[in-house]
Amino acid sequence: MIKTHFKLILIPILLFSLMACDQQPTADAVQTNYSKKMWSFISEMPKVELHIHLEGTMYPETVSILANRNGFDYFKTVKEVQQSLDSRPPGLFGFLQHHEKQVSVLQTQEDFYTVVYDFLKNCKDNNIVYVEFFFDPQIHTSRGIAFNDVLDGILAGREAGEKDFGVKSELIMSINREKTVESAFKMLKDAEPYKNQILGLGLDNGPEEGNPPAKFEAVYALAKNQGYYLTAHNDVDEKDTVEHIWQSINILHLDRLDHSLNAMEDFDLLREINRRGLCLTGSPVQRTTDPEPQEIERIRFLLQHNICVSLHSDDPGEFASGYLSQLLFNFQQSGKFTKRDMVLLMLNAYEAAWLPINEKKMYIDEFKTWAETQGVNIGEHYFNKHKL
Ligand code: ADE
Ligand code: ZN
Repeated sequence: MIKTHFKLILIPILLFSLMACDQQPTADAVQTNYSKKMWSFISEMPKVELHIHLEGTMYPETVSILANRNGFDYFKTVKEVQQSLDSRPPGLFGFLQHHEKQVSVLQTQEDFYTVVYDFLKNCKDNNIVYVEFFFDPQIHTSRGIAFNDVLDGILAGREAGEKDFGVKSELIMSINREKTVESAFKMLKDAEPYKNQILGLGLDNGPEEGNPPAKFEAVYALAKNQGYYLTAHNDVDEKDTVEHIWQSINILHLDRLDHSLNAMEDFDLLREINRRGLCLTGSPVQRTTDPEPQEIERIRFLLQHNICVSLHSDDPGEFASGYLSQLLFNFQQSGKFTKRDMVLLMLNAYEAAWLPINEKKMYIDEFKTWAETQGVNIGEHYFNKHKL
């Protein structure tokens, strides 16, 4: 009697488990598993970040802490900062409207220290092994903050961050293009005592219309003479951007191009970029209101045409795309890029870095070895194309 009962219970269980074994996992389950593995692959990837603005690394939480600490009557709550981010118009104009307001909460040396320190902690959490970051002195000095306060705060934060998180970093001092040439010269002069601590010179802010790269020809000539590496922003789809990219190459003699993705519209320009071994720092950022990361197709096109394009987070505190791991993952998922594509894009970042050649080679060898452990073998040829 007991035995019969037992069979009655056991048989359906056995049948059910046999059926379950036979069943294929659902497409959703496969996708989830694939995405999980991809997330591990991307988050564990040792990364280089070359296009990130210190002032844009502040999350709404930090902005409101600093706003309260410094007695501002705006951005007192995270919600208020988030509302301002969510309601800004698209493009550079809308970005700058919020950005300049949020930057104003930075007041003291200690504020700069805190922001750099937090930023380097986030770099570590994102497995960023090397970062070159922009800072914009004029945006601060024009508000009455001393150049030395900005620099001393940044350098102290950088030293502490490197010690505590082991992230190597370098500084790119950026000109605000809407300001005068005289003001840019003054900034270079102010930076003289810090020259050994600043690796590069950049050009950002806006509007770009009326403030082309050529405006700063003499400043860039002097900076080159002083030993700075040179780069400049040509934000995507800004007026006359292709002409501005030509000017960046022929007049400013840049070592790297920020954004500059519209170069794909001019094949002569692409050939020249490749001939000179120049790299483009793309930033497929995403606002809360964007359905997917920006610039996916332009970056795909450039990658397919063997242009040295890489991916960066630009202003992680001001975009929903956030820091590099999240940004790379969103980009990969939305554009259905392969692991190999993601490795090539990151190799381009390593290649574009302003590292001494031996150090760069060491980083690249380590990165390639890591990629091999992930089943992606790039081989030798790739890096002979550019400067190495
Ligand atoms: N400042 C911070 N991010 C910038 C960007 N992407 N373009 C111009 N200026 C900026
Ligand atoms: Zn930028």
